[in-house]
Amino acid sequence: MSKQRAKLVVGNWKMHGRLAENAVLLEAVARGAGELPESVRVGVCVPGLYLAQAQALLDGSRVVWGVQDVSAFTQGAYTGEVAAPMAVDFDASLAIVGHSERRAYHRESSELVAVKAQRVLEAGLTPIVCVGETLEERNAGETEQVVGAQLDAVLAKLSPQEAVRIVVAYEPVWAIGSGKSATAQQAQDVHAFLRARLVAKSVAAADVPLLYGGSVKPGNAEELFRQPDIDGGLIGGASLKDQDFLAICKAAGAVSVTQ
Ligand code: 13P
Repeated sequence: MSKQRAKLVVGNWKMHGRLAENAVLLEAVARGAGELPESVRVGVCVPGLYLAQAQALLDGSRVVWGVQDVSAFTQGAYTGEVAAPMAVDFDASLAIVGHSERRAYHRESSELVAVKAQRVLEAGLTPIVCVGETLEERNAGETEQVVGAQLDAVLAKLSPQEAVRIVVAYEPVWAIGSGKSATAQQAQDVHAFLRARLVAKSVAAADVPLLYGGSVKPGNAEELFRQPDIDGGLIGGASLKDQDFLAICKAAGAVSVTQ
């Protein structure tokens, strides 16, 4: 088996959680993460209102925290928006941009996602840029075209030095919340394509973590994480259950090594 690199596992809570249950979950994840090998990095992206809670309960632990979206603007008359520097006030280090739910329900274009990635980088945070195809697009043989264009839109706005600071999450839309993960081979194929695309754009692609997301569970995590181009996972539903999330982090630990 080829030597595996360090892994990154990030929970995307989506619009779930209330103060009391968050506290139980955050404390359990912080405790469990302390027992993971050094080769696994762990993060949680919480609803923005709970950043202060995440900061209070995760500070000093192995777990980093962040938000699930940011505004394309730094400040101003944009009612309801939250800007990347605001997340920095709570010591966040991650911000998801371009999740398929935002692309679908909020009509976010790849160009807008690219601007958001820029704002996140300017604030000193790490953007987790999500890409992924729908089932129709996959069935039409358009997966590479779709995810390639989504990635290119972001890379077009970043220098190679900036691009090396992003994380890319491949999340096939049909696998999200469906219980039907991509197979390890399907995911690996797209990850290899994305890695090659980064190289083609002069990005030091070995340094860009490529996460897989879409129905990752304790039972399928290790096989996914064993793939040479899968550097970890972006976990939705299973990140809301401490034991499942920590089991997924452990699976990452089982196939990773400290670089
Ligand atoms: P599930 O793990 O619930 O399929 O969600 C994946 C996802 O969208 C993470 O961003």
